[in-house]
Amino acid sequence: MSQTGILKGKAAFVAGGTSGINLGIARALAEAGASVAVLSRSQEKVDGAVAELRSVGVGALGYAADVRNEEAVAAAIKAAADTMGPLDVVVSGAAGNFICPAAAMSGKGFRTVIEIDLIGTFHVMRAAFDVARKPGCSMINISAPQSTMPYWGQAHVSAAKAGVDMLTKSLAYEWGEYGIRLNAIVPGPIEGTEGMKRLSPTDEARRAVEDSVPLRRYGTISDIAEIALFLASDQSSYVTGTVIACDGGQLLAGAGLFRPPLTTRQHIR
Ligand code: COA
Ligand code: NAP
Repeated sequence: MSQTGILKGKAAFVAGGTSGINLGIARALAEAGASVAVLSRSQEKVDGAVAELRSVGVGALGYAADVRNEEAVAAAIKAAADTMGPLDVVVSGAAGNFICPAAAMSGKGFRTVIEIDLIGTFHVMRAAFDVARKPGCSMINISAPQSTMPYWGQAHVSAAKAGVDMLTKSLAYEWGEYGIRLNAIVPGPIEGTEGMKRLSPTDEARRAVEDSVPLRRYGTISDIAEIALFLASDQSSYVTGTVIACDGGQLLAGAGLFRPPLTTRQHIR
């Protein structure tokens, strides 16, 4: 990454930053010089991420907590700021996903994803507000193409991520006067991630995804980390309230992407 040092002396908190896209973002922030704290449920994943971030040569902290637990999130974010100083960058990317058609989904299943993706994001943003650098903080939420495009078996995720987009805009509108910027990133299909393992479990689904992307390839974690770095840095100091797609143009393809033929739906619970 060519951005070495642009976040030197800054403090960053990445909720869900222990694997996949979010860990890639945490690492990019660290490589740009920021101290980084991460939070997720698994202590093992937290320890692994902290070790990886420290190997970059910056200060790193980790907290095992569930974003659905408002008090635990607030305690972790306060503890991170007490050690690292006011937060300059806050990323909220914890999310849960499974394919399930709405007609087969329980209220509990729907609620679980809303509580992690949407309410969890509010918990992170709200707690971070109290310890954010004002002015100067950049908050970044990780959305998904489902926020504007229906996918088969993804009603719960669409509802949650549409909420994340509007939460991003609403908070940008309210917190602009404190000098806090908020933006969201919509990653397209990113190779080698848990999300893609769940959404394209078959070769046929993988080919359908590739065919749906105008640039005809999966994205990389680094593609997303570069956008996060831009939004985190002063290079984007007049950018707020936006939802930026980094998806190879996939959203141009429209609805109906994941609509497996009736004969191939048996593997889905
Ligand atoms: N199909 C239908 N419903 C499902 C489901 C599936 N494959 N998996 C979970 N659910 C529903 C069920 O209603 C379940 O409750 P039940 O088992 O009592 O019926 C409810 O969701 C909660 O599931 P549970 O596994 O107890 O929740 P959890 O809080 O431990 O885990 C998940 C949350 C389900 C989102 C889990 O997949 C997860 O932790 N995901 C994180 C990683 C991830 O999804 N990464 C990709 C991000 S894009
Ligand atoms: P991932 O590796 O599963 O990342 C999810 C992270 O969130 C993990 O660190 C996980 O760690 C944590 N997490 C999950 N539930 C949590 C909870 N309740 N509380 C706290 N932390 C929790 O998935 P990914 O595929 O990289 O996806 C990352 C983000 O990108 C998500 O917001 C997803 O919606 C978005 N996205 C992904 C794609 C893609 O192609 N993969 C496309 C569009 C959008 P623990 O298990 O330790 O909690």
